[in-house]
This record gives sequence, C-alpha cells and structure tokens, in this order.
Amino acid sequence: MPTLEDLEQRLGGLDGRRILVRCDFNVPLRQTEAAQREIADDLRIRAAGETLRWLTERGASVTACSHLGRPDGKPDERYSLAPVADRLAAVAPGVCLAENLRFHAGEAANEPEFVEALVTGVLGAPYGEQRGGGAFDGYVNDAFGASHRAHGSIVGPPQRLPSAAGRLLQREAEVLGGMRTGARKPFVAVLGGAKISDKLGVVEALLSVVDRLAIGGGMCFTFLAALGHRIGDSLCEPDRIEDCRRLLDSGADIVLPSDITALDAGGTVRQMRRNIPDGCRGLDIGPGSAAEFDDVIAEARTVFWNGPMGLFEDERFAAGTRAVAQSMADARAFTVVGGGDSAAAVAQFGLGPYMDHISTGGGAGLELIEHGDLPGLAALRNSPQQ
Ligand code: 3PG
Ligand code: MG
Repeated sequence: MPTLEDLEQRLGGLDGRRILVRCDFNVPLRQTEAAQREIADDLRIRAAGETLRWLTERGASVTACSHLGRPDGKPDERYSLAPVADRLAAVAPGVCLAENLRFHAGEAANEPEFVEALVTGVLGAPYGEQRGGGAFDGYVNDAFGASHRAHGSIVGPPQRLPSAAGRLLQREAEVLGGMRTGARKPFVAVLGGAKISDKLGVVEALLSVVDRLAIGGGMCFTFLAALGHRIGDSLCEPDRIEDCRRLLDSGADIVLPSDITALDAGGTVRQMRRNIPDGCRGLDIGPGSAAEFDDVIAEARTVFWNGPMGLFEDERFAAGTRAVAQSMADARAFTVVGGGDSAAAVAQFGLGPYMDHISTGGGAGLELIEHGDLPGLAALRNSPQQ
C-alpha cells in the first residue's frame, strides 16, 4: 500500500495541498442529562491524530471525513458529527471535518456522483476553520474500522486521487493481517460476544491458524448445546448447533467454559457448572473458566481477543471479561485486542496501557483475519500510481 511518504513525493510536497482523510470516527456516544451527546470512548479519534498531525505539520490543508452510526442516507441531527468535531479540534488542531458521510445515500451505495462530490470538495466541511476550497489533491485512508465496507468514501477516492494509507490503517493492517501468517506460537484466540452466526467464518479462519481457541460470551451456549448440555434460557442459535458440532468434531483445540455465572428466574445470581436449568440464563463465564482461560493465555506467545465473556456492562457479570483482560495484561505474549466491545472493556478496566495493540476495528479486524484482505486496503493497492 502507498504510504504517506509516497503521497508526499508524488504531490511534490504537501505544503498548501488539500488532502481528504477518511477516518473512522464512529465512536460510542452516550446521552447526558442535558440531552447532549457525549463521546463515551475517544480511542478512534486519538488513534487518527498521528496521521492528521503529520499532514498538517507539512502544511497540508486537511479535511477529515467519517460516518457515525447508521442514519438512513439523509441528514439526521441525532447522528451529526458535532461531538466529534470538538474532540478532534483538541487532537489535531487545524483540521476541518465534513458532516456524517452517511447523510448521503451515495456513500453506502458507492455511487459515482457521490464520490465525485466528495473528491471535488462539493460536500464541504462545516466543522473547523475553512482554509481554501475546491477539489482535493490527495486522499488518505486512515479508517481501518470501516475498511471492510466497500462504501464510496473508502473505495472511490483511490481511483480518482493520488492516495495513501494513513499510519493507523497501516499499523492495523500489519498487526491484524499478520495474525493470519506471522503470529508467534503458541497462538491463542479468545472469542466472545453474543452471536456465533456473526463469527462462524472467522472462527473457521482462526482455527486454521491458532493452536487453541477459547470461547466465552453469549456464543458459547450454542457450543455447549452442541455438546449436549442443557443451557436453560441462555442465548442460543439453534440453527447453528450443527455448525458448532462440526467445529468441535474437527479435532481443533477448542476450550469452552466449564462453569457459568447465571441469573435465575427469581433474579438471583448463581454459579453453576455446564448444565443450566430452565429459568436460568447464563450471562458470564464462571471463576473456574476464568482460571482455565488464564492458563491458556499465560502459555501463549500471541493472543488475539475479540468479544466480551459476558454482560460486562452489568457489574454482576463483568468478572469473566475483567479476568480475561487482566490475563492479557499479565501475559508475556504479544497481545491484540480486536474490536469495539473488548476495547471498551479494556478501557473501562484501565488496562489499555498493558496491551500490545488495541485495534480500532471490530468487524474490520475479524474480516481481515477471515479473508486476508479488505475492500479499503485493496482499493489503496490498486490506486493508479503516477
Ligand atoms: C464499526 O464501528 O463497526 C465501523 O465504524 C463500521 O460501522 P458499520 O458497522 O455501521 O458499517
Ligand atoms: Mg460494526
């Protein structure tokens, strides 16, 4: 992929050049009492700072753009990037910010007219100090978290403008892409999250490269059901039980929880082993499982973790996720945290500084591991040089 230095060289310097930077500022927001939207985790904004400052320090006139949430292809105040603009001004002064790209139907549909409007500067940048106007001279993709989407702002500009990968995108592509091929062994993956159907493809891809796969979170119950256990009222995807059974029978080293923290019908939190009675709902891995997962992580040289072990937003069911985060922090392994919920959990537990890499991509990281490439990365590689 072309680098920022390649772009600088190709444009004969960046001073005065207008550069469009696609970022992934799709940050989690919470509503304050004053009905204001407030950023719950600004990792994705801070992570783009390096690229944005590198460009402005060289005199480029930089406009950042991003999507936020899933508005319906038309302007919707609830999804405006205003809260991001405030934070961005502190992270990378002097950078303009365009409004939510998904206010235009042409973004998700990758319509040529939309791409044209974007690269010629017609969309404008309502946030930040405007410096000059008109068409952009170059494009940088630093939106790793959105590069699995073949959307207009991701795949369109590289066909039209001299283009480069930003620092964040480059590092993410190296680390997450490297999981497929270059990971030091033993390589362990820990997967959680609600749904196995979302992650079947990545589970299969991971099983071909990892030495062990530990599974917790909502998705573990479909596996436990496939083993013939009773799972009570826990999350289950009946039409995936067969797939889970096939994976378990494949001879792969899959570690499932041996105990569960559950909520019974009377609202009492109970510890139990693998058989969960009717009326009970498993909501976290139990302490025995957390200790077993800790052993698995401690023995690894590379650990990839995606997805919480339980309903960690509820303190009663946060122990499993906290334990895995702590095991990762203590591990001698190269540790990679992939994705929104696990990254948020690590931040909530204050363990971010002890991880080797916290990815800004959830789905993007999983798709890169699964397929070995992403539409946004391919678009940069295929961008015409000269
Ligand atoms: C994400 O947060 O997963 C990315 O920003 C992509 O957003 P999307 O899932 O709405 O396309
Ligand atoms: Mg997503």
